[in-house]
Amino acid sequence: MSQKDRRRWDEKWLDSAGDRYEPHPLLLQYRTLLGGGEALDLACGKGQNAIWLARQGYRVQGVDISPVALAMARTEAAEQGLSDRIQLITVDLDHWLLPALSYDLICIFRFLDRRLFTAISMGLRPEGLLFCATRHVGLLQRCPEAHESFLLKRGELAEAFSSLWVLHDVENDENSEFVARK
Ligand SMILES: C[S@@+](CC[C@H](N)C(=O)[O-])C[C@H]1O[C@@H](n2cnc3c(N)ncnc32)[C@H](O)[C@@H]1O
Repeated sequence: MSQKDRRRWDEKWLDSAGDRYEPHPLLLQYRTLLGGGEALDLACGKGQNAIWLARQGYRVQGVDISPVALAMARTEAAEQGLSDRIQLITVDLDHWLLPALSYDLICIFRFLDRRLFTAISMGLRPEGLLFCATRHVGLLQRCPEAHESFLLKRGELAEAFSSLWVLHDVENDENSEFVARK
């Protein structure tokens, strides 16, 4: 990612400093599956999902390009007394090597980089869970100016993660939601 794009994300997060983000509903819906262990939140932003997972007993790595977002996540984790369970790392996912067989759960919300799909599958431990939700091409109906490369195709997650056991594969008008187990 270019310095310009990184600055753009920092500015966006500064603008939203007062906004409160809730954990993704998919995590809440499938909370009975969550058995703890090592979790990875890719492009974690302000860390609401990473922090919630830490509260469920996971040791969590949250990675994101924006130091501003991560600083907010760090503050929130400290306020909730969860700092020792969360590692927040500034990472450019264009260049980061996701370690193999390292995570009991990987989540990726509101972010798409198809080049990560194989590494995500490999990064899960046996029986590890994947949670993924982001916009698909249906968004173009309402926002024709949106960049198609940042939008999933319909059915793309099920195809990309066909080696996993699918637990949830739902597409509404604009969003794809996917949960699977290795
Ligand atoms: C729409 S936000 C989603 C944040 C969080 N997952 C959530 O659902 O609230 C997208 C995030 O991707 C991060 N991001 C964008 N490009 C990235 C890259 N190349 N490497 C790491 N993070 C990146 C941004 O900083 C931002 O926090």
